[in-house]
Amino acid sequence: MIAQDADPAITNLQPWMQQLGEGVDARPYGHPSEYEAHVVRRNVEWLTADPVSSVNFTPLHELDGIITPNGLCFERHHSGIAEVDPAEHRVMINGLVETPLVFTMADLMRFPRVNRVHFLECAANSGMEWAGAQLNGCQFTHGMIHNVQYTGVPLRLLLEEAGVRTDGKWLLAEGADAAAMTRSIPMEKALDDCLVAFKMNGEALRPEQGYPVRLVVPGWEGNMWVKWLRRLEVGDQPWEHREETSKYTDLLDNGKARKFTWEMDAKSVITNPSPQAPITHGKGPLVITGIAWSGRGTIPRVDVTTDGGMTWNAARMSGPSFNKSMHRFYYEMDWDGSPLLLQSRAMDSTGYVQPTKDMLRKVRGENSIYHNNGIQTWSVNENGEAENVEIS
Ligand code: MTE
Ligand code: CO
Repeated sequence: MIAQDADPAITNLQPWMQQLGEGVDARPYGHPSEYEAHVVRRNVEWLTADPVSSVNFTPLHELDGIITPNGLCFERHHSGIAEVDPAEHRVMINGLVETPLVFTMADLMRFPRVNRVHFLECAANSGMEWAGAQLNGCQFTHGMIHNVQYTGVPLRLLLEEAGVRTDGKWLLAEGADAAAMTRSIPMEKALDDCLVAFKMNGEALRPEQGYPVRLVVPGWEGNMWVKWLRRLEVGDQPWEHREETSKYTDLLDNGKARKFTWEMDAKSVITNPSPQAPITHGKGPLVITGIAWSGRGTIPRVDVTTDGGMTWNAARMSGPSFNKSMHRFYYEMDWDGSPLLLQSRAMDSTGYVQPTKDMLRKVRGENSIYHNNGIQTWSVNENGEAENVEIS
């Protein structure tokens, strides 16, 4: 950072200083600089047999702050991306209601709407790490998450319009994709903070995220956030569909399976440095940063260790702290070039503290995939290269 003699980046006349740039209408819809072309969602090819029922991952190590840009939100589809014509799309409410209703998109726009920032985390995020360190990068270990500002109509208003009967205790949400994704949602949650959302970060939902309309189920596992939402059926009991029996349940050591584990527990990860984002500047000032979130509230505190958990330091939170939203933390240090064992540990507004992976396996056994919120470790060597390891 000390000024050098004759730095060509200063003394040379760069090409962009010698010619006019493109005019205002050259880019009617803006895209990132060509130098950011590596900042993309990525797939792990061996993970699934076919990309139509698969997942790609948010490049968390390239992002900062708390908002995920629309084009970088991870995608999880069970039968590919439905390309829905909004003029031909309807949202229907049927079942145990006074008046079954059908809404066009224009109808939905005539209800009062709200704006809220929430994370969506797939229950399978970090699932591949359950048996030990496996994937080398926070994009792959933790990238089944995005955090977006949604604009939508409170689900409560639509249900009130239809008039839920007193025996209506559950809601079935169904998608218009070929998977016809369906999940049972308890009525208390539906009436509490769920949204029928049509905008993300101010613009229309992307087709990948459920255009023209998706369900937002704050703090609860991503699978319930039905995309391309077409039907809401009110019933008196859960439907026990595939995605809440065979999938999205956790087989414990005693042979019993946990089900309806909807809330996402508090979790955090250091995004920089990390395997895809090594330290390249050598010794001296180092900014360690990462994200934390909880399905039960806010994150007032994150601790960071650089010595594998022997000493913990309170990180500095920066940016808005919304309920059931991503939080950003920083820990600045002077790096002497010696190896580091980096971990972060989130505490949420209920006082719950993120557990180690050992603690999790003690309670949940070895068979789980979903709901792995254990503490992540990156081992950083003298060259600044980071690797996924497990020490606790
Ligand atoms: N909704 C429909 N209709 N079809 C789907 O395949 N996938 C679910 C959920 N909603 C899915 C769906 C799963 S498992 C997750 S984790 C989230 O959508 C992913 O949302 P995203 O693609 O916006 O990241
Ligand atoms: Co999912």
